[in-house]
Amino acid sequence: MVRNLLRLIVLASGSLAQLDSYAPTLVTCPVTVLTRTGSPLPGSANQTLDSGEATYIQKRRTEVLAPLWETYLSDTTSGSTGYNISHLFPISSSWPRVSTSVSGGGYRAALYGAGSLSALDSRNATNAGPFLQLSEYLSGLSGGSWIVSSLAMADLPDLFSLVLGLNGENGWALDMGLLDPDGVLGIADNTDYYQILLEDVRAKANAGFPVSLVDLWGRALSFHFFNGTTRSNFYDEAAPHDQGLQWSSIKYTPNFQSWTMPLPLVVSTSRVSAAAQTSNTSDTTVIPLANTQFEFTPYTMGSFDPSLAARVPIEWAGSYLVNGVPINSTSCVSGYENAGFVIGTSAALFNAAEEVIDDPNIISALSSLGNQLADVSNPNYSIPLVANWPNSFKDFVPEGGATFESAGNDILQLTDGGENGENIPLGPLLVKARGQDMILALDSSADTDFFWPNGTSLIATADRIAGYFQRNFSSFPPIPKTAEDFVQQGLNLRPTFFGCNTTGNGNSSVLGNYPIVVYLPNSPPVDVGDNTYLTNTSTFKLDYSMSDQVSFLEAAHQNGLKGFTANGQTQDPDWPLCLKCAAVDRARTRAGVERSAACSTCLNKYCWSDGIADALVNATASASNSVGTQSTSNASLSKRGRKRGALMASASAVLMSLL
Ligand SMILES: *[C@@H]1O[C@H](CO)[C@@H](O)[C@H](O)[C@H]1NC(C)=O
Ligand SMILES: *[C@@H]1O[C@H](CO)[C@@H](O)[C@H](O)[C@H]1NC(C)=O
Ligand SMILES: *[C@@H]1O[C@H](CO)[C@@H](O)[C@H](O)[C@H]1NC(C)=O
Ligand SMILES: *[C@@H]1O[C@H](CO)[C@@H](O)[C@H](O)[C@H]1NC(C)=O
Ligand SMILES: *[C@@H]1O[C@H](CO)[C@@H](O)[C@H](O)[C@H]1NC(C)=O
Ligand SMILES: *[C@@H]1O[C@H](CO)[C@@H](O)[C@H](O)[C@H]1NC(C)=O
Ligand SMILES: *[C@@H]1O[C@H](CO)[C@@H](O)[C@H](O)[C@H]1NC(C)=O
Ligand SMILES: *[C@@H]1O[C@H](CO)[C@@H](O)[C@H](O)[C@H]1NC(C)=O
Ligand SMILES: *[C@@H]1O[C@H](CO)[C@@H](O)[C@H](O)[C@H]1NC(C)=O
Ligand SMILES: *[C@@H]1O[C@H](CO)[C@@H](O)[C@H](O)[C@H]1NC(C)=O
Ligand SMILES: *[C@@H]1O[C@H](CO)[C@@H](O)[C@H](O)[C@H]1NC(C)=O
Ligand SMILES: *[C@@H]1O[C@H](CO)[C@@H](O)[C@H](O)[C@H]1NC(C)=O
Repeated sequence: MVRNLLRLIVLASGSLAQLDSYAPTLVTCPVTVLTRTGSPLPGSANQTLDSGEATYIQKRRTEVLAPLWETYLSDTTSGSTGYNISHLFPISSSWPRVSTSVSGGGYRAALYGAGSLSALDSRNATNAGPFLQLSEYLSGLSGGSWIVSSLAMADLPDLFSLVLGLNGENGWALDMGLLDPDGVLGIADNTDYYQILLEDVRAKANAGFPVSLVDLWGRALSFHFFNGTTRSNFYDEAAPHDQGLQWSSIKYTPNFQSWTMPLPLVVSTSRVSAAAQTSNTSDTTVIPLANTQFEFTPYTMGSFDPSLAARVPIEWAGSYLVNGVPINSTSCVSGYENAGFVIGTSAALFNAAEEVIDDPNIISALSSLGNQLADVSNPNYSIPLVANWPNSFKDFVPEGGATFESAGNDILQLTDGGENGENIPLGPLLVKARGQDMILALDSSADTDFFWPNGTSLIATADRIAGYFQRNFSSFPPIPKTAEDFVQQGLNLRPTFFGCNTTGNGNSSVLGNYPIVVYLPNSPPVDVGDNTYLTNTSTFKLDYSMSDQVSFLEAAHQNGLKGFTANGQTQDPDWPLCLKCAAVDRARTRAGVERSAACSTCLNKYCWSDGIADALVNATASASNSVGTQSTSNASLSKRGRKRGALMASASAVLMSLL
């Protein structure tokens, strides 16, 4: 094909790594492929970061973040914290450590992430704080992985430009639907589009690798979130469409090379089999909470979870290993970490259809789709509906008596990171070796009857750590016990700080020591007028007009600036100062300095504790300007019913357009 001839290998310094094809290749193995992440077992607190990551973060802290913190903390535009910063930070290594995490939820989550990050971007003179620039890590899952990866791969342009295609950026072109980019009548163009996608997937299958619907999905996402595809070359078979773009090539962007980029991190969860996939225990999750959560960084793929505690260099992800050893001298795999496939893996929700779609015809159509995609050549060991990764952790035995649930699988079955209910990818940021003081959690989950978040994701994280993370792997601050509590206390209407008071006196190896979690939920604006754009759109909406994209970004941006509003205020003037107080609070504890009066006032306003729950319930109930977000009605469709309906619609739409 012409297109194959035109594929280029570009590996020059400063360029992104493009292989000549979507198909991975078998290559000679390096000396060491798999390494353990160590574990903080009592008596062996040896959890370690990958050396590339450790060096990156250390350089980022000393070369980039130290001066940024100094500027930020000295700036009194938004009020004074009352601290003398030379007392708080006697040595440079005592600067605070913060990260940001972006939830899943389709295009809507990607847009919410973009609008929120723009409110936290120092290039936008908002005073909310340069948290985008100050974040050591930026984690994303599902739709959140799309914004995180897109932003990093494009070398950190400003958010409005990235999404809308201003200032030389291509833009996400979300008005060109994911399933029918040229509209329902654009049959010829849409056919060309599918041919381009299918050709790539076929190439991977022909090379002997397993493929599924997720490959097609990842290729489609690449047309929007990476910049090889433009509006003008969208249907052009001969144009490059990032089919060979590697996720790890983020490493070659100028902002990464100068450590000015938060380290991007993408999350996915493993599944053992369709049969062991369960919703027995919960209405809202598909994958058991105990299952291993995988992370992709520009350096590695693996997990710090006690169930695995191992990783491989990302360039070798998908290599065939048994108990860490290559099965033969050329069983290593190069090119599996295709950028689109990584974000498709993080958003691989098709297996949920096995749970919620009862119609056997749809199930069998979805299941055979993988084969049809790639003609007759799709290897018969491909697993339908999940992302197929040759299992580099096969027969691996974790330290400390844990078992890796997918150790018996030849193909590691990865699924949407949010399918276990943990829709905000906090897990990797709670890893003790990453030593975070504060995490901003951007939640765009569609939980309530009106599609607003209700804290379900935070509860899942807390449950997961309490239930399956013994031995001090991670700890999480106290939060309300149920989603009802979140809603009744109004915690899904405004930002809240969890875990303001650590029990560890700043010593990160003490059990119970956790970062402060700043929860920033997607919530309705204070004034809902007739023309107000509401950001509780469906998470399955796969096209947004240009004007809707602008309105969504603006609304999410304002949500990031509003803070704890009362009495009809649209913005809390203290919000920027209060965020700053939260950011420095752990460093303050470490330095043994008392909380200042200004910061005590702030933290009293924003910090949650069980002791104020009643007062919050009363205040929320009496807020007369409530806009009806807190539906207490018994909606005719349960959440599960709604999810079933939405997934059914989405799966059917995919089928209709492919078959
Ligand atoms: C901050 O503390 C340092 C060291 O104790 C002191 O020299 C300096 O004057 C203090 N600055 C302010 C504004 O109080
Ligand atoms: C700052 O945010 C506003 C939204 O209020 C947006 O219109 C503007 O483009 C943003 N500027 C930059 C540089 O991101
Ligand atoms: C894509 O982004 C890279 C990195 O910023 C840039 O070098 C390249 O020119 C961009 N390509 C297009 C087609 O915009
Ligand atoms: C869930 O229920 C199914 C059907 O009863 C059963 O086969 C499966 O083992 C259960 N899964 C779990 C994790 O209990
Ligand atoms: C090495 O292992 C790979 C992966 O299973 C297989 O495809 C390949 O044929 C093997 N090579 C040799 C020389 O056995
Ligand atoms: C897959 O195909 C191979 C070769 O055609 C065959 O030997 C094997 O039995 C098949 N496996 C399954 C599970 O169908
Ligand atoms: C919270 O969200 C979950 C879904 O994530 C839903 O099942 C539950 O009914 C919701 N509860 C409330 C009080 O909104
Ligand atoms: C957690 O770590 C502390 C300090 O090392 C130790 O005393 C405690 O036993 C550990 N907890 C568990 C559950 O292993
Ligand atoms: C932190 O706590 C651990 C475990 O309790 C203890 O061994 C260590 O000495 C403490 N470090 C400091 C600096 O207090
Ligand atoms: C944290 O500790 C301070 C000082 O002891 C106290 O005033 C405050 O109420 C505590 N806050 C929470 C949320 O527990
Ligand atoms: C909340 O309201 C109830 C009923 O009016 C009242 O009994 C209770 O004291 C209030 N609690 C707080 C903390 O204000
Ligand atoms: C969005 O939220 C508003 C206010 O809570 C509600 O009136 C509306 O029905 C919601 N829209 C959807 C699609 O749920």
